[in-house]
Amino acid sequence: MLSQKTIDIVKSTVPVLKEKGVEITTVFYKNMLEENPEIKDMFDAGKQKDGSQARALAMTVLAAAENIDNLAILMPAVQSIAKTHINVKVTKEHYPVVGRYLLGAIKEVLGEAATDDIVNAWAEAYGVIADVFIGVEEKMYQEECK
Ligand code: HEM
Repeated sequence: MLSQKTIDIVKSTVPVLKEKGVEITTVFYKNMLEENPEIKDMFDAGKQKDGSQARALAMTVLAAAENIDNLAILMPAVQSIAKTHINVKVTKEHYPVVGRYLLGAIKEVLGEAATDDIVNAWAEAYGVIADVFIGVEEKMYQEECK
């Protein structure tokens, strides 16, 4: 469970992060794929080769954070994205990697404005959002094996 303080910090920083969304997603995409060739291959396998999928991913995390205290609203979108993830074989081990680069990008773009409180709140929120995806995707993988 996230504390009210964490929820408040996350929600109050979503607008500025969205404003800088292009910068954040560009840094995220570049660093993560440059340093993780195996993940780059997953994206290359998709139809979009220009990075728009990786950017959609980062923007979706920001959008999800707006509803961090009511994630049920997101379930239809999560179900649909999860199907895409299953097709490209995303596993639960990938989530911390994405989280690390997303937080890194937030820090890099916000600079001094990224206080410890803000960074920690986002780390926690990402963890909660990632767990929702991981849960849905694990169920889908199990269904596949039946
Ligand atoms: C909470 C974290 C994540 C969110 C919110 C998210 C969201 C998205 C979204 C919105 C898309 C666009 C495609 C669609 O709408 O169906 C997408 C595609 C994709 N995601 Fe995720 N994602 C997350 C985590 C991950 C992780 C951990 C990986 C593994 C490295 C990953 C790999 C991919 C790939 C490879 C695609 C592109 C698939 C294609 O080429 O069509 N995502 N994701």
